Amino acid sequence: MRHEDFISLADWTAGEVDGLLSLATAMKKDGAKFRGALAGKSLALIFEKPSLRTRTTFEVGIYRLGGQSIYLSPAEVGLGKRESVADVARNLERWVHGIVARTFAHASVTGLAKWAKVPVVNALSDLLHPCQALADFLTLREHLGDLRGKRLCYVGDGNNVAHSLMEAGPKVGMDVTVVHPEGFAPSAEMLAATRAAAKAAGTKVEVATSLDAVNGTDAVYTDVWASMGQESEAEERKRIFAPYQVNAALMKRARPGALFLHCLPAHRGDEVTDEVADSPASVIFDEAENRLWTQMAVLHTLL
Ligand code: CP
Ligand code: NVA
Repeated sequence: MRHEDFISLADWTAGEVDGLLSLATAMKKDGAKFRGALAGKSLALIFEKPSLRTRTTFEVGIYRLGGQSIYLSPAEVGLGKRESVADVARNLERWVHGIVARTFAHASVTGLAKWAKVPVVNALSDLLHPCQALADFLTLREHLGDLRGKRLCYVGDGNNVAHSLMEAGPKVGMDVTVVHPEGFAPSAEMLAATRAAAKAAGTKVEVATSLDAVNGTDAVYTDVWASMGQESEAEERKRIFAPYQVNAALMKRARPGALFLHCLPAHRGDEVTDEVADSPASVIFDEAENRLWTQMAVLHTLL
């Protein structure tokens, strides 16, 4: 199947996800071989939210493939405000060969994909962060080898990152458990859809409120308690999420040698302690590096 866009990992088969991960590994081993893959091609990067990793890795990745990136900051585009999503898409497609978009509303990313004839890549929406999950599972594969039968336990808010991990798990054969405080579960639709996908793949997607779910897991993952756009809830969330901090005591519940993952940015002292983030178990900077290789693989595949 030839994909037009990279919006959600649910749209890609297990074989296709494996293909993206293998291509990313090949690029990591011998980047020079792929130089020129995007020669003469331009990509627009629309960001409604801040970014360190996503912007840098897309810009560097596009450069390494010989293409041009055009960064459009939150102040510039005004998706749906200064100009409708449909009109932005129908302008951009006349000039560029692809669009990378980080938005608040998920409908803005799907709207761009609907209206633009060029590929659209989801660089994080309020619903999903597929580029992150792809990099995370490459990192897990590098450290754990065959992921089949292994389990990732995400501890924290049932947010965009949690949703994409739930979508990715069944594709790579890994079980995913999301442990969250009462009232902060992943979306019910996302849970139903990923559970069905997991059942078909012979894996599991589960949710829990008890930290007992961390017991014996192969990897522990966390993310900020208040995502971009939820700044006004940050103080209240700190109180609610405090028992779910990933610290040395919680890591002890995981299997000996279990990995620690975080998409970053980390609010050290909140969702994770320095002790865990800087421990030998932590692969957070490998994840950050792998954003580059996996996104280069996505662009190479789409364009
Ligand atoms: N993990 C991640 O997407 O980081 P940025 O928000 O810095 O891009
Ligand atoms: N859940 C976080 C992820 C940041 C990469 C957010 O949306 O802000």
